[in-house]
Amino acid sequence: MNQKKKRASYVFNSLYDQIELLVSGEFGDANPEVRRPPKESGAQFAVPCFRYAKVKKETPVMLAEKIAERWNSGLKAGGLITRFEPAGGYINVFADQRMLLEEIFKDINALGEDYGTYRQKEETIVVDYCSPNIAKPLTVGHLRSTIIGQALINILKARGYEVVGINFLSDWGTQFGKLLYAFNQWGDENLFEKDPIGHLVDLYVRFHAELDVNPSLEDEARDCFKRLEQGGEEERALWLRFRKASLADFEETVARLGVCFDYNWYESDFEKKAHELIDRLLDEGIAERSQGAVIITTSDDDNPPLVAKKSDGTTLYASRDLASAIERIEKFKPVTKLLYVVATEQNLHFVNLAKALERLGFPGICQHIRFGMVSLPSGKISTREGRVVYLDDLLDEAERRAEEIVKEKNPDMPEDKRAQVARRVGIGAVIYADLSQDRIKDITFDWSKMLAFDGNSAPYLQYAAVRCAKILEKAEPEEQNPMKVLKEEDIPATVDKMTEPETIDLLLHLGRFPQAVSEAAQRYAPHVVAGYLYELATLLSRFYTQVPVLKASDENTRLARLALVHSTGLVLRKGLAILGIRVPVEM
Ligand code: ARG
Repeated sequence: MNQKKKRASYVFNSLYDQIELLVSGEFGDANPEVRRPPKESGAQFAVPCFRYAKVKKETPVMLAEKIAERWNSGLKAGGLITRFEPAGGYINVFADQRMLLEEIFKDINALGEDYGTYRQKEETIVVDYCSPNIAKPLTVGHLRSTIIGQALINILKARGYEVVGINFLSDWGTQFGKLLYAFNQWGDENLFEKDPIGHLVDLYVRFHAELDVNPSLEDEARDCFKRLEQGGEEERALWLRFRKASLADFEETVARLGVCFDYNWYESDFEKKAHELIDRLLDEGIAERSQGAVIITTSDDDNPPLVAKKSDGTTLYASRDLASAIERIEKFKPVTKLLYVVATEQNLHFVNLAKALERLGFPGICQHIRFGMVSLPSGKISTREGRVVYLDDLLDEAERRAEEIVKEKNPDMPEDKRAQVARRVGIGAVIYADLSQDRIKDITFDWSKMLAFDGNSAPYLQYAAVRCAKILEKAEPEEQNPMKVLKEEDIPATVDKMTEPETIDLLLHLGRFPQAVSEAAQRYAPHVVAGYLYELATLLSRFYTQVPVLKASDENTRLARLALVHSTGLVLRKGLAILGIRVPVEM
């Protein structure tokens, strides 16, 4: 009988948990730091003692020695942990390699496609991402928000959370009065039809140019917005057209990145709710009147209070966002986190939002997922008539360049196939260039680095995944799905065949995949998964050049190695899918 079943936990995780428990027991630290030691150490984990040494007024080296000795004497034989070794202020933790290898293999064998994912948690996380302004093109900032947001959604889902993704469209504010006025004056239906956002941007620019010579346009625009606010039919109909056309445009662009939003929410829908919320907060004494405006003060003196209502009685971005946050908390109960994947520039806005939510009884729920700026490569796409970068142009350029490379590497590939490969490689390259770095950092898109087939790039990882599939295709039919052939009871004998360091390193690294997912979820850091995958692809290539797979000396060894290739392909594909990157059928 093939005992394929859900396993309770991953072996590296239980090792990690054991260490965490030891450290917190020893030092009373609820959040201990457990690191990955340098590879040469041969250890699986390391516990830094520096922080504790300070408290205990000892040198880290001495403390590590003392603790390691004590922990060693408490070890039971036959457990996963075999010994602790002090190493310059760290305690290195060694595990029983044989046991690790077997458990890793069992996990992959039992879980298959589910390997690396976790059981469902009851908690919901709401992710706000992309969230552009209507009537304006998507910026590279929105590109980053979309890519990082989607990866986080996938990571958190894999970690077992219920996740809701919201595209929150900014569609309210006095600028729409300007646009309404400009469209009525100079709008061209044909141009709007062809390129709605482009035309609206032009009209907006024209409005400001005309404003310079005719300041009374300001009043005209204000009147237009007032009529829109009061539900004027004509204004509303036109504004809805702007919104509809913008959304269609955005959705088409992000679909190229494989993104589809769970919800599109509109800021304007929270205008009324913001008024209601502010009234309630005034009643409850959480908000107060100040010089005609309404503010929410926080305990923090460093930051100005959140202005909920201006003295003219209108709401602001901040109060509409607050009302929308409350709606998210209520609608998707039980929500543990509201994530906002928005550029670092809006830091202050989110500090205020978090503070206000804290005063409303939701401390720590709001988390701003910041990211740095992007510099684009010079060339065609960097500007369009001196204006903004169109994301579609950027993605087109990526695909075009990918196609050139694929054509060069694989001249015989039929054209339709090549187009698919170019699409996946080009888009994958853009996504990976973003996600492979810590999101806080500014990034520069460098085409040759992004599209290099050898290096830390999407094509390198995609190629590794394709290679795994190709190796399996060349095996005998009955060996092509080695995990189907291998039963749980065969695993010890299979692991017996894994003796070369390259083989062992590869399998051990496969065992760390669930941990990478978990760490990425905990730190909201997709680059942890990216870094993991790059290392996996590198280990695969080392294994493949050193250890014969199809030409292995005997049948069982061959099956064991094929199983390893199969597992590596599975994890590569899954990890890339988590990042939002698709693997081409061929490369
Ligand atoms: N529309 C804003 C911008 O493009 C970002 C909105 C972010 N989301 C939010 N709930 N505030 O800059």
